[in-house]
Amino acid sequence: MPSLPSQLAARIEAVAGVDPELRPATKPQFGHFQSNVALRLAKAEGRPPREVAADIVARLDIDDLCETPDVAGPGFINLRLRSDVLAAAVNAQLADEHAGIAQAQTPQRVVIDYSAPNAAKQMHVGHLRSTIIGDCFHRVLAAKGHTVIAQNHIGDWGRQFGMLIEQALDEGLDLDALDLAGAEELYQRANAHIKADDDFAARSRDRVVALQAGDETTGRMWDKLVGLSKNGFNQTYARMNVRLTDADYAGESIYNEMLPQVCADLEERGIAVHDQGALVVFVDGFDAPAILRNSQGGYGYDVTDVAAVRYRVDELGADRLIYVVGSEQTYHFNLIFALTRQAGYLPERVEARHVGYGMVLGPDGKKFSTREGTAVHLDDLLDEAEQHAAPQIALAAIKYADLSNALQKDYVFDPERMTATTGDTGPYLQYAHARVCQILRRAEAEGHRTGPVTVIDEPAEQELALWLTRFGEAVDEVAAELTPHKLCTYLFELATKYSVFYEKCPVLRSEGQVLSSRLGLCAATRQVLAAGLDLLGMAAPERM
Ligand code: ARG
Repeated sequence: MPSLPSQLAARIEAVAGVDPELRPATKPQFGHFQSNVALRLAKAEGRPPREVAADIVARLDIDDLCETPDVAGPGFINLRLRSDVLAAAVNAQLADEHAGIAQAQTPQRVVIDYSAPNAAKQMHVGHLRSTIIGDCFHRVLAAKGHTVIAQNHIGDWGRQFGMLIEQALDEGLDLDALDLAGAEELYQRANAHIKADDDFAARSRDRVVALQAGDETTGRMWDKLVGLSKNGFNQTYARMNVRLTDADYAGESIYNEMLPQVCADLEERGIAVHDQGALVVFVDGFDAPAILRNSQGGYGYDVTDVAAVRYRVDELGADRLIYVVGSEQTYHFNLIFALTRQAGYLPERVEARHVGYGMVLGPDGKKFSTREGTAVHLDDLLDEAEQHAAPQIALAAIKYADLSNALQKDYVFDPERMTATTGDTGPYLQYAHARVCQILRRAEAEGHRTGPVTVIDEPAEQELALWLTRFGEAVDEVAAELTPHKLCTYLFELATKYSVFYEKCPVLRSEGQVLSSRLGLCAATRQVLAAGLDLLGMAAPERM
């Protein structure tokens, strides 16, 4: 069911002929909403605005939703929802297993590409953001009733494996005993070695050829390196409470066997051309071409993503593709989308979106790095936040910091501010939830009945009730626009309105119907806060 404000707007539009552009009233005595539609129409019609307003009001059929509207000032229409209508809407939402989130009428298959760290390297802060943002999209779209297919496009193929394997063989290293941190050190030693030793560099190149040719020893070692990398990633995922599982790994390597066919298809159809020994596609509007195969016959990042689009559309049956990857890859994805549209791999009916995001900055406002100037590991960040708060609170702090601003913005990693239980933080929302739980626990212990909501006469009750019923709209917006900060803002506002309500309207000190009605509002607040926190990937502890 559409929210009360949208039902109301539709009714007014039916009479006025244009969108009434309902705005929240500036003061409780003006009701809940105000429209300037009469002022706008009066200009066009050359009539006095108050007359136009009175005319619209006389023709409105909204008695089942609103009190009789007032015409105020120069011709504003003030609307007040009926309090029994508000109460019924809250009760219906409280009884709804989806907490007022309308289920999609045409469920889609949505592929979300997120996290995507690189094998033999620990995750860094860029992967942290991708993981958190992608997990939020996953939860929001699943809550709308869509089928979400997570694709963890890890970097598990490519030239670096030549040197990793060669270095491990040189050292006689036991890969079974290696963990991800150890693999990263191996990577660094191999990297130093390849720069200093031409013979090693040549052997590493041969090792890549052996890997691609299916050599058995090489393949086994590759397998181990990828396996231990996944183990390391999984430990971090478990720590982060995200939905990614083993089944979601779809690394670059799975596309390997599709690449020659993609190249052949694009070449045959005249879309790909030879340029200085390489096979490339020039796409209108892009300065640099997409490289399908380099002059040595090697395949790279571009062609892998072309194959991935094709696979996701044809094999996974995607209706929508979402890529959560840092903003520095915007050009890459625009190029891939344009190319695959042109090639017909990405039909018009499938929406494709790259959602970029900004950097995490250190306390000095510069790109976050260790004292040695290397990238900060994600686990170190989690450790640092946990110095300030318990794990599930520290985690909520980081996630909220990541999600509560427009994604494109950089943000400063400030564990002290992020973990505070006051202000616009994740822990503040958790704390608000725990407080409501405490009141409901006490009410239960005292034997009071919670709900239904029946009496909502106080402005603070009405504000809270109205805001509660707008949860579904807030979620819809995030699902459509992929803007998690709007959900954060909604929940922060909810916590604030609840505080005002709690301050202005005694709950446990009231009696009878008023008491059970106010407890009903508390229960509805708990429901929405818990559901909202879950969509952001945060725990909703009942005690704090
Ligand atoms: N592994 C890449 C990186 O760390 C991100 C991959 C993103 N996904 C993709 N389909 N290209 O930068």
